[in-house]
Amino acid sequence: MHNSVPVMEPDRQYYYMDRCKELVLELKKNKDVMTYSVVTFGCQMNAHDSDKLKGILEMIGFEEVEGENADFVIFNTCTVRENANKKLYGHLGHLKSLKKKKPNMIIALCGCMMQEPHVVETIKSKYKIVDIVFGTHNIYKLAELIFNRLSTGERIFEILDKSYDTVEKLPQKRKYSFKSGVNIMYGCNNFCSYCIVPYVRGREKSRPAEDILAEIRDISTKGVKEVMLLGQNVNSYGQIYNYEDGKIVRVPENEKVTFPELLTMVCQIDGIERVRFMTSHPKDLSDELIQVMAREPKVCKHIHLPVQSGSTDILGKMNRRYTKEQYLDLVEKIRQAMPDVSITTDIIVGFPGESEEDFLETLDVVKKVEYDQAYTFIYSKRTGTPASIMDNQVPESEVKERFNRLLATVNEISYKRVGRYENVIKDVLVEEINHQDKELVTGRTEENITVHFKGDSSLIGSIIPVKLLSCKGFYYLGEREL
Ligand code: 5AD
Ligand code: SF4
Repeated sequence: MHNSVPVMEPDRQYYYMDRCKELVLELKKNKDVMTYSVVTFGCQMNAHDSDKLKGILEMIGFEEVEGENADFVIFNTCTVRENANKKLYGHLGHLKSLKKKKPNMIIALCGCMMQEPHVVETIKSKYKIVDIVFGTHNIYKLAELIFNRLSTGERIFEILDKSYDTVEKLPQKRKYSFKSGVNIMYGCNNFCSYCIVPYVRGREKSRPAEDILAEIRDISTKGVKEVMLLGQNVNSYGQIYNYEDGKIVRVPENEKVTFPELLTMVCQIDGIERVRFMTSHPKDLSDELIQVMAREPKVCKHIHLPVQSGSTDILGKMNRRYTKEQYLDLVEKIRQAMPDVSITTDIIVGFPGESEEDFLETLDVVKKVEYDQAYTFIYSKRTGTPASIMDNQVPESEVKERFNRLLATVNEISYKRVGRYENVIKDVLVEEINHQDKELVTGRTEENITVHFKGDSSLIGSIIPVKLLSCKGFYYLGEREL
């Protein structure tokens, strides 16, 4: 006899993990191993969520395999651009034939795309091979959903409209034992007019600083040396803790912890040697943050500062709340405090109404800032966002032509920027044996530049000085400094 189901989280999920473990053991009577595969699309947030899904799946007795031919396959989806959606349907087509051969296979979908009602309708009616569907607000419930599926045989759909609970302290599987993402906030309140994130990830909500610090202290004792603090807009950290009946519960003034304060506290944790964060919205990046970055040796001198467009007019239509000049001034301020800082960005080409002149403003920003790397995107119309109903959508051929021009400029500049480290000695956190050449190891500098150099597996997880010898575009070949 089982005890009654706990109501409180995370106890309830630990209960379901135990129950699933029994069911998986039962299934293992016919097979040696029960395998799983988590396929992740999209950003760092999703990658971090996938580590949580993997933690739960391992806890209940599944073993990870590469590819999609597993007993349990889950897709953690992204919907930030239309092509991400198309990719998922492509994969599902392939799984249809796999499942024909392996009818007991369980297929689950979760993540941002599942927060869109029209997607869920399509899955319900056209993709009967899918067994479990859930969204961004209940990923912690994976064990309970699997249990429901296995014990009832029904298809399970559970999509919530917002986060009722932030359930933490669940298992997590890290790809690398020495580095980890850490959520500091969830959701986004910025409503950039092209962006679907605020609709699918919900309202901005910060985790209390003491919870974040406790988590980082805990993982540092397990060998984590590098943490990446994750949020859609880390600079507004600490303003809103929760919502009650739809009303914002602001943090009382005397209890507020700002992002720079949090960053300082994270740096004080023993064992943590590198601290990164992502993403910064230029509109509220404070002087205090720049000072902390410049002062704290553990904070990586790399800042991802999405500009999106160089045209003040387009920035206004995007609801970004800064002008071209304000952005350039901010970059200037950052460079003055940290002359060697690496700056990366995101740029959208072809936002509705973008003229050739607007586009030239974007090129101008790229040339003035000289980004170490820029991620370039063709504007993608997302249903439900204000931009999707704006006039003057730019013709595809024009957008493509601009995109190619932008890419050529961005690549030329970043090659030059990244090349400035030739013959410089940099600390590298060694991540793995090189995939192509087993004599080499691969690691990253604080600027996030990949470096390959001669070494063996004993170096994995250590931070060691490496001379960067030749720049190959986005990566270096180097030599260990002894
Ligand atoms: N179309 C194209 N790019 C987009 N991004 C967000 N929404 C869209 C869209 N509708 C880009 C932005 C953001 C990055 C994560 O994705 O540049 O910074
Ligand atoms: Fe989207 Fe803007 Fe929020 Fe980033 S800050 S997630 S671009 S709405």
